[in-house]
Amino acid sequence: MGRIAAPAARIKTPGPERPRRLRRTAALRSLVKGTRLAAGQFVMPLFVVGGRNSVEQIGSLPGHARLSVDRAVDKARELAQLGVGGVLLFGIPERKDEEGSGAADPGGPVPAALRALKDAGLPLVLAADVCLCEYTSHGHCGVIVNGDVDNDATLPLLGEAAVAYADAGADIVGPSGMMDGQVAALRGALDGAGHDGTAIMAYASKAASAFYGPFREAAGSTPAFGDRRSYQMDYANAREAIREMELDVREGADILMVKPALTSLDLLVRARERFDVPLAAYHVSGEVAMLEAAAEKGWIDRKSAALEELTAIVRAGAGIVITYLAADAARWLQEDAAR
Ligand code: PBG
Repeated sequence: MGRIAAPAARIKTPGPERPRRLRRTAALRSLVKGTRLAAGQFVMPLFVVGGRNSVEQIGSLPGHARLSVDRAVDKARELAQLGVGGVLLFGIPERKDEEGSGAADPGGPVPAALRALKDAGLPLVLAADVCLCEYTSHGHCGVIVNGDVDNDATLPLLGEAAVAYADAGADIVGPSGMMDGQVAALRGALDGAGHDGTAIMAYASKAASAFYGPFREAAGSTPAFGDRRSYQMDYANAREAIREMELDVREGADILMVKPALTSLDLLVRARERFDVPLAAYHVSGEVAMLEAAAEKGWIDRKSAALEELTAIVRAGAGIVITYLAADAARWLQEDAAR
């Protein structure tokens, strides 16, 4: 305090330490840049529906749409051209039921898209989200027994869904339901079906968050009653988040993911020090919605704000960023490199 309050007259020059030396020119700033983004680390979420030649815009996620399989393949081709690393598929079924049986339907939109994408032979990692919420009539991430989501009754259903996606060609499955033991259940089911080469990206620390609103609009997966706080984590708990990650590593997770990204930067830092597996962060729908809305009002610059957010996520420790901005960011990186 004393030093801060010292009279200006007593402050001489800063001495030999002048961090501004390395900020002098664009070339110097580029040379010393500590965090560089690459298109190959971005994963684009895609929402897939049945039918053909169908593109239904999602109001709360500008530039994103529910795509029929053929259109999803077109989109994936564009993404591959931009050097984006992969896609993460979510399915929106025609019918929903109590058990979310559509999740494991080999004829559902996700397996169909996986087969088509596999056939297209694109240099993209094919990942599929594994959860029941898009497929249940009540919108919860598991089956309901006595008014509550039943953990252990849900696990085999998640296992079946993961096997259906692996059968269809998924490189990675991503259990996102926050059921205890879901990673072990998936590993067991996959190995039992001969898919020991299919990797698991665990939504390890996924908070019950206000930032999933636009996604739920896109997927029609808002819970019909109650909320997700009896299975998704309390965002207030950092130690519990680390424990969730520890359990998932022990259960066989190949990649750990935290979510939402910007409200979990501290968790990324801690996880990066502690675990020797790749770390992913999900820059979720609400985070992007805020950015889009503010940019539309002219209150922030979309590109600068987006690149700043993505850089902060990578700086904190994520090597993989799942983001709706994957295509734009890849394009910006190309533009900036060409300058
Ligand atoms: C499914 C799932 C959700 C998201 C990813 N997987 C929704 C939820 O948990 O309610 C949210 C992604 C986003 O907001 O972009 N369980």
